[in-house]
Amino acid sequence: MNAELNELTTKLSASWYVAMLSKDLKSTPVAVKLFGEELVAWRDARGVPVVMDRYCSHLGASLADGKVVDGCIQCPFHHWRFDATGGCAHIPGHQPDVPRLVRIPSGARQRIYATAERYGYIWVWYGSQAPQHPLPEVPTADVGRPDHMVLRVAYDTRTTVLRIVENFYDAQHAAPVHALPITAFDLKVFDASQASPEFAGMVKAGAWFGGSIEFKVSRYFGAMGMFANLIGLNMSRMYLTFDGYPGGCLMSVTLDNEEKYKLLQCVTPVDTRENVMHALIAIPRRGRFRDLANYVLFGLQTKSAAGADVQLWNAMKPDGGGAFSRYDSLVLKYRSFYKQWVDRVGREPATPSAPEDMPAARSVG
Ligand code: FES
Ligand SMILES: [Fe+2]
Repeated sequence: MNAELNELTTKLSASWYVAMLSKDLKSTPVAVKLFGEELVAWRDARGVPVVMDRYCSHLGASLADGKVVDGCIQCPFHHWRFDATGGCAHIPGHQPDVPRLVRIPSGARQRIYATAERYGYIWVWYGSQAPQHPLPEVPTADVGRPDHMVLRVAYDTRTTVLRIVENFYDAQHAAPVHALPITAFDLKVFDASQASPEFAGMVKAGAWFGGSIEFKVSRYFGAMGMFANLIGLNMSRMYLTFDGYPGGCLMSVTLDNEEKYKLLQCVTPVDTRENVMHALIAIPRRGRFRDLANYVLFGLQTKSAAGADVQLWNAMKPDGGGAFSRYDSLVLKYRSFYKQWVDRVGREPATPSAPEDMPAARSVG
């Protein structure tokens, strides 16, 4: 059982992952490495992101050195062009009166990945041709929301995706790693009836993992503790709720009885032990001074907390360990959930779940 669980820690689940930040993909193709594969990202004529095999199916040139022409990516070598579906749309002729010299060979095709763009990220689906669950639904993190401040941070790690995405459920590390002065904590796993309406699509796809950790704390914590005290942000109860999905988690943070912010954790899986952890923090606006204080406080806190996690992850053996205590119950439940989505890699869904199937955004305020 434990050997099986440890083996799982190095596997990638079928899910949505972050290919890159939206702002990093402009009009020229960009070389990316995802899932251990060398790929290229570019935008078609409508600006929709495309992620495909980097090496040209003709003679293997790098399409990342090509350019986008008429909504297709044009190879730098012989100028064959591939459209957003991966099909070869054009092979140039060499006489003015013959626009196309040869028939397009059937193998002239680039493998593509399903993509989506939201929250300032370009998402890419891993595990099957068609997506099997929707994107996490976080309307307050949508680009251009005037009522929320959004902060995005990213960390390079040398651990596996599961070890990153299971970390939120590990209440036991909050005191030793994050200096949270806990007097008690309580772990819960939610059932589907407790999911908020935003996650109905995720629940339907069997891709939702809900839970909570309630911490009793003796005072505010971390490097910003004094500052927090100064602005009256002391607290005695920290309540974290989780809307987990196979490739990440949305954490909602309530201090005493007020929800302070949401943190969307997602991952860029570069290679088995080379992954970028992204954290998007969405903080409701409450007025000038308060906003600045919250931005600094929650932003810095997340940064320093993530920094401490990354240091640990980078030095650990991702498939090590295996003697679990009852405090690991939430982590272990998440692992069995994650396993179901590792098992879906390579299987096509009966009914694909495209991002358009996502339930309508409900405003939270
Ligand atoms: S190698 Fe790409 S067109 Fe020839
Ligand atoms: Fe942590």
